[in-house]
Amino acid sequence: MFELLQEQPKDKILALMQMYRADTRTEKIDLGVGVYKNADGHTPIMRAVKKAEQSWWGQEDTKAYVGLAGDPAFSDVMIDLVLGDAVSRDKVAAVATPGGTGAVRQAFELIQMANPKARVFVSDPTWPNHLSILKHLGIETMRYRYFDSESGGVNFDGMLEDLNEVRAGDVVLLHGCCHNPTGANLTLPEWDAVIALLNDKGVTPMIDIAYQGFGEGLEADAAGTRAVVAGCPEVLIAASCSKNFGIYRERTGLLMGVYHDASRTSLIQANLAHLNRQNYSFPPDHGARLVTLVLQDPDLRADWESELEEVRKGMLDLRALLSNELQGLSGSDRFGFVAQHRGMFSRLGLTPEKVEELRERHAIYMIGDSRINIAGLNAQTVPILAKAIIEVGA
Ligand code: LMR
Repeated sequence: MFELLQEQPKDKILALMQMYRADTRTEKIDLGVGVYKNADGHTPIMRAVKKAEQSWWGQEDTKAYVGLAGDPAFSDVMIDLVLGDAVSRDKVAAVATPGGTGAVRQAFELIQMANPKARVFVSDPTWPNHLSILKHLGIETMRYRYFDSESGGVNFDGMLEDLNEVRAGDVVLLHGCCHNPTGANLTLPEWDAVIALLNDKGVTPMIDIAYQGFGEGLEADAAGTRAVVAGCPEVLIAASCSKNFGIYRERTGLLMGVYHDASRTSLIQANLAHLNRQNYSFPPDHGARLVTLVLQDPDLRADWESELEEVRKGMLDLRALLSNELQGLSGSDRFGFVAQHRGMFSRLGLTPEKVEELRERHAIYMIGDSRINIAGLNAQTVPILAKAIIEVGA
């Protein structure tokens, strides 16, 4: 049987991660995978998370299974964090998943179970793993224009024009905030226009929200998702705790299914739990437990929020620094969008050849589409990156 297996396409992000690790140059700069790093290049455990972990170590007295949907308290705190009061709790079905990717995967499978003919519309570009999972599941995928590489902003007219092609029963995948890979995001009036179009066409929105708190702040970053939930009859939301709680390897996420008629919530809940059972049975608990402890304890929560703000503001400072540096060296505002973008990423608009040259000549690693992880920089490396970008003639 194994001789029948074929090579699988390489994941661009993970392949770059390996190349970076294998590079022996000491001056190398990693702007690849979306993992937060402080100025020393370290991904710290957040203070509140560490305290919650210490306290849980003392309290935990069993490793028995929790439940197919995970701990309901985790669902409650996360629904509150992501959806606020946009919808009443009885209209939300939710299951814990292994990371945000687990939630995305389960959402796609639910779509396929509910309507095998549904097509999923994704932004062009989107996180490569969206495309890869959709392909793996054999779900027909359509792209809608999203990024204007000239301005570095959203091509909103193009987006609406392409979304006009949706049919009733299709699904439109939207990034809740901090668009990955571009860093360009919808304004609230644009969210409203998208909601009106989706309702008009009878399609289901699905939201991937993996960077809440990294853009404009915890509340502002959830505003688009909340508007969709308040304005559309049904919504799927995949939320990740990897980045905003810094618990990447704990694999902690939540899939939510919101439906306007609360009498169907238990059916949706049962389907989500069934999917968990088929795929991995019980979701991991440790990360979910830490998130619950942090969000339920006022002191831990306040400390987490303040550390998250430090992280967010640090990335904004780096954006301003890089944009200024590039302006000074290029004598133009060409890269002004870097300061406007929000979240962990910006797409610089460099050709794959320039990206390769930056890697080979300058040991600067970014994804081939010129996505950079802003948090991979610090005050010392910003000028190095800016100089290298200008040197390769980008
Ligand atoms: C990224 O986009 O770099 C992150 O979401 C990490 C990943 O799994 O790809």
